[in-house]
Amino acid sequence: NPHPLKDSLQRSIRDLRISVTDRCNFRCSYCMPKEIFGDDYAFLPKNKCLSFEEIQRLTKLFVSLGVKKIRLTGGEPLMRPNLPDLVSKILSIDGVEDVGLTTNGSLLGQQAKRLYDAGLRRLNVSVDALNPELFGRLNGRGIEPAFILKQIEYAREIGFEIKVNMVVQKGVNDSEILPMAAYFKEQGITLRFIEFMDVGNDNSWSFKKVITKKEIYERLSSIYELEPMDRDYFGEVAKRYRYKDSDAQVGFITSVSESFCSSCTRARLSSDGRFYTCLFASGGFDLRQMLWDGANDEELLAVITSVWEQRTDRYSDERTEQTAKNRNKISMSYIGG
Ligand code: GTP
Ligand code: 5AD
Ligand code: SF4
Ligand code: SF4
Repeated sequence: NPHPLKDSLQRSIRDLRISVTDRCNFRCSYCMPKEIFGDDYAFLPKNKCLSFEEIQRLTKLFVSLGVKKIRLTGGEPLMRPNLPDLVSKILSIDGVEDVGLTTNGSLLGQQAKRLYDAGLRRLNVSVDALNPELFGRLNGRGIEPAFILKQIEYAREIGFEIKVNMVVQKGVNDSEILPMAAYFKEQGITLRFIEFMDVGNDNSWSFKKVITKKEIYERLSSIYELEPMDRDYFGEVAKRYRYKDSDAQVGFITSVSESFCSSCTRARLSSDGRFYTCLFASGGFDLRQMLWDGANDEELLAVITSVWEQRTDRYSDERTEQTAKNRNKISMSYIGG
């Protein structure tokens, strides 16, 4: 392609994060607090979500503009019926080099095999604590960590490459940093510590609740020797290290203390077909309406191109206590992180 698509800060479009549902069976306090996401919460009605055919069509268009990596998210993506069919559809697109799925892991027992058979190979599973009482409270549903760890083991036996994500909140689960590191090191699974972010409008974030990479690194260094590794691909969000005495790795996702907006090549598609150019955006472009109005591929491509060319987002570079409080942002469960 002689004219690769670039945004206004010269960033290309390489990754597409697709949210396949805004529903979740967990109620993590930092993402879907129970007080807001109660029994009568109005999730998107099923007929407002993109069909797999529509997602496939849009994905093809994004791939023609430079996207190579696809990530399926939610909500909890495994709540979307027949997800393996979508995986096959996406993998059949020429130019897709990598597909990953981010999940809370609870439904892997039922679905991991079918997902593997559809061609999926990579899973990122969220686990915020190993202490049963704490984990049960954090997921808002009293789910036991042992249950999720079992799903991870099962998915691994099937053949999945698995990474674990831990969102660290000061005074909430930072006591779990070392136990989590020890457990996943032993398992040979990469654990990634994620700095707590001010996503959405209702997760009562403040800088005081963030434990930075530096602090976590120092705690780990009191026990383990770590050495930095090269990044896997341009724009990888995690900074990874290897334990010197094993092949296991740890990673840090430093959206707060060392933002990575200058290499952010990620586009996002919500389950109702809006195109977002940042995790912290307040609005997105409604591609579903265009699809439903019968737009052809050229028209869709022209719009996607123009939205990307105008992209100026660099929220994590600009974050302050003020923006965290006052900016209206889309919610995490709707856009999938
Ligand atoms: P791989 O590296 O392909 O395994 O995936 P990933 O780390 O990009 O995806 P994952 O869904 O596991 O996300 C891990 C964490 O990084 C989550 O907390 C995301 O919200 C965060 N994250 C991913 N992309 C971005 C981004 O563009 N900006 C910010 N601020 N955070 C991001
Ligand atoms: N800050 C950082 N990470 C978050 N995630 C959800 N909410 C937040 C937040 N406020 C994580 C989930 C999952 C990934 C997609 O995003 O735990 O691992
Ligand atoms: Fe569900 Fe993931 Fe949000 Fe927790 S963080 S409520 S598992 S979507
Ligand atoms: Fe990309 Fe926005 Fe995250 Fe920055 S804050 S890395 S621009 S998604």
